[in-house]
Amino acid sequence: MKRRDFLGYTGLGALGVAASSVLGGCSEEEPSVKFWQQGNFRPVSEEVTETNLKIEGNIPPELSGLYVRNGTNSSNGISDHFFGGDGMMHGVRLEGGEAKWYRNRYVNTPVYRKETGGFGTPKPEDTTSAVSMLYHGGELMSLGEFGYPYLVNPDDLSTKGAFNYDGKLPGNMTAHPRIDPVTGELLFFGYNVVQPYLTYMRADAAGNMLQVEPIEMTGPSMVHDFAVTDNYVVFMEMPVRFSWTMAISGSGLPFKWDDDAPSRFGVMPRNGTNADVKWFDVPTCFIFHIMNSYEQGDDVIVDAARYDNLWVKNSHDFFHPAHLSRFSMNMKTGKASVQRIHDHAMEFPTVNRNYWTKDYRYGYSLVVDEKNDTPERIGQSEGGIRKYDLKTGADDSYLPGPSLTPAEAIFIPARESGGLEDEGYLASYVYDKNAQTSAFCLFDATKVSAGPIAKVQLPVRVPVGFHGLWVPDSVVS
Ligand SMILES: [Fe+2]
Repeated sequence: MKRRDFLGYTGLGALGVAASSVLGGCSEEEPSVKFWQQGNFRPVSEEVTETNLKIEGNIPPELSGLYVRNGTNSSNGISDHFFGGDGMMHGVRLEGGEAKWYRNRYVNTPVYRKETGGFGTPKPEDTTSAVSMLYHGGELMSLGEFGYPYLVNPDDLSTKGAFNYDGKLPGNMTAHPRIDPVTGELLFFGYNVVQPYLTYMRADAAGNMLQVEPIEMTGPSMVHDFAVTDNYVVFMEMPVRFSWTMAISGSGLPFKWDDDAPSRFGVMPRNGTNADVKWFDVPTCFIFHIMNSYEQGDDVIVDAARYDNLWVKNSHDFFHPAHLSRFSMNMKTGKASVQRIHDHAMEFPTVNRNYWTKDYRYGYSLVVDEKNDTPERIGQSEGGIRKYDLKTGADDSYLPGPSLTPAEAIFIPARESGGLEDEGYLASYVYDKNAQTSAFCLFDATKVSAGPIAKVQLPVRVPVGFHGLWVPDSVVS
């Protein structure tokens, strides 16, 4: 295998997928017209700084900080897979009711600099770092699906370099760590195509590694996210698996659906070891993203975007709608159950992160059009942002029509502490297909359907990407 081919998945970008309408793509074979080189999937060619930004509406003056979102943006304009581009961050700084600047910057990795190539096992630094952002232990980080995180300067989005927890990070760290909102502890994991297939890690609030724990799996599954409650962490082992057939084929990523692989959750005490993991079989499915997780009596509850299957033929096979579903694992009986809790397709679930690990009422996601099932409909979907009231079953959606497509909506609390669960704002980049432009938009999270309360037109189109983060000035040290 060529080194660069191997990098095709070590740096592969997102696995953060809003399947159908948000992503498009649906061919079972490698598409003749690659959806990730069309429409708003196309990369942008320049890094831009803009300080003269105009605002429609009002940015709440109490919001002071950085909104930054990661995604793939191939520096040479092409890639073998949607997830295969270089990491690019798009950031907007808010202060005193103004948008002080917008910047888009590549994550400056060896892959971006084209310093990797040839044969051999890639180094942990050899990642595109294209999936998400994290602020923890006093550092802003760009995260990829594999490899080391990269430290980023929040003042200008410049890359400071790779980070490995003083040498204690054994290799891969994924893009979906969880921070305990009470203790500030970071709970995270990495996965690999060789044993140990999964490694669980914990770091204290200051960013000191506390635990590195190999977890036994039955095979090399793709594990994009995981769940944390007050007392437990929850690992997913699902049937999208590393495939030598796919690796040798050179088409897309070396992962595909494996009918023989299990669908199961492993629940482990947060300070436990592999020997403490209780595995719960669930009906066959695949999950990229978890909305939230918590404990209720003897049950460990995980709310997630559930696919019936994914990548059955190959990794270009994206059209499979996900539905918000509640998994309940009973620690006494060892039994698990699953229940669909909303009828319509969705992806990119988010919550007020102060409610991570806690029983919660409100979630948010992108709206996905289940009819978007042919290549011709790519980009024609009706996207939007949906708010879920999980206690009453009610929902409230922003549906701007086919020309406007929002990206993941990140919740920003209106107050540092003491606010109501939905007292705050949703931040999203919204793409205008007709104008071929993008805007940074803020929504009142209590009235999502009312549309943006503030809109900042950006000098650069923000391509379809993955996960964002709000970094309030109050936490930056
Ligand atoms: Fe993701």
